Amino acid sequence: MQDYRVALVPGDGIGVEVIAGGLAVLRRAGEVTGNFALDTIEYPWSCQWYLAHGRMMPEDGLDRLADSDAIYLGAVGFPGVPDHISLRGLLLPIRFGFDQYVNLRPIELLEGIRGPLRDRGPADIDILCVRENTEGEYVGLGGRFHQGWPDETAVQTSLFTRKGIERVARFAFDQARLRHGKVASATKSNALQYSAVLWDEVVAEVGAGYPDVELTKYHVDALAARFVTSPGSLDVVVGSNLFGDILTDLGGALQGSLGLPAGANLNPERRFPSMFEPVHGSAPDIAGRGVANPMAAVWAGALMLDHLGQPEAASLVMGALRHVAKQGPRTPDLGGTATTSEIVDALSQAVGT
Ligand code: NAD
Ligand code: IPM
Ligand code: MN
Repeated sequence: MQDYRVALVPGDGIGVEVIAGGLAVLRRAGEVTGNFALDTIEYPWSCQWYLAHGRMMPEDGLDRLADSDAIYLGAVGFPGVPDHISLRGLLLPIRFGFDQYVNLRPIELLEGIRGPLRDRGPADIDILCVRENTEGEYVGLGGRFHQGWPDETAVQTSLFTRKGIERVARFAFDQARLRHGKVASATKSNALQYSAVLWDEVVAEVGAGYPDVELTKYHVDALAARFVTSPGSLDVVVGSNLFGDILTDLGGALQGSLGLPAGANLNPERRFPSMFEPVHGSAPDIAGRGVANPMAAVWAGALMLDHLGQPEAASLVMGALRHVAKQGPRTPDLGGTATTSEIVDALSQAVGT
């Protein structure tokens, strides 16, 4: 029997609703397998916490999270606090500070869910997105000058390093070996002659060490179209921080709802804890109504169990997701009328007793 220390950061809006539900399903998987228990500590860091304390987390926030086996996060951001303050005060410092350089986001249409693409089913939509998660467009280099003046200026600089590209590319090629042997690299080297050309060169160099994996580079605009016109041609997709962000919401749409996709923010060397979260945000438009789809949070939980070394429990949870996707019930985002807690109950039951 293993005891895992899991830090909970439910955050804002529906983050709070789906993490509570997700945790119940994960705990059930622990009981059913008899293999582990989750020893959780909840941190209330959020926009509400910001309004009371003037910051999104305490100064030593990362130190408090550092000895967790994993972090389970809901969503950050809510009207009342500007998004760049909330996200740069909580979510992004965790990703950067714990060197979670891989953001692994599976894009899979589950059987029983109606995706938006006519004539495309689960066999066509099975993509693994490997998003660079610590540099690129998100480094936060830049500034604003002459604020409020007519000549006001903003500079936001991307930063791409050989080391950063190399390590995420390597991760993507390793994943391709476990899947269908194909890597699609998202680039924009026709316009970005410095950063994206370096990206292409380094990805190709890494790829040369994987002669058994087929590498194709796509400009990200064409790749976005390919997600829709020919998703079945894609296996592993590797992209920069911003490209990966955009492509994975598109992926969520292909999955039938943003209520489904999940992601793992990984520090593959395990020097720091990794973090697991839904792809979606805090959904202020439906928050507090008890109708958020908890399936993305549950899926993120399955990725967490895998990472913790509990593959049996992870596949029980994935099996439950597949079962409920097929049989229902469904929340309104998937065309149903069920509440969050009805889905959580159905998933828990499907995990077993
Ligand atoms: P969002 O993902 O919160 O919502 C987009 C749309 O999808 C909304 O209509 C919402 O109702 C719906 N949706 C999302 N998740 C759902 C679920 N589980 N069940 C049912 N419907 C769901 O994106 P947004 O509106 O752009 O952002 C809202 C806030 O969340 C912003 O502050 C944003 O910065 C933040 N955000 C945080 C994260 C994160 O913490 N990882 C991710 C994305 C956005
Ligand atoms: C995501 C989110 C975040 C990102 C935002 C909230 C900073 O959209 O996890 O996809 O862009 O990484
Ligand atoms: Mn996003």
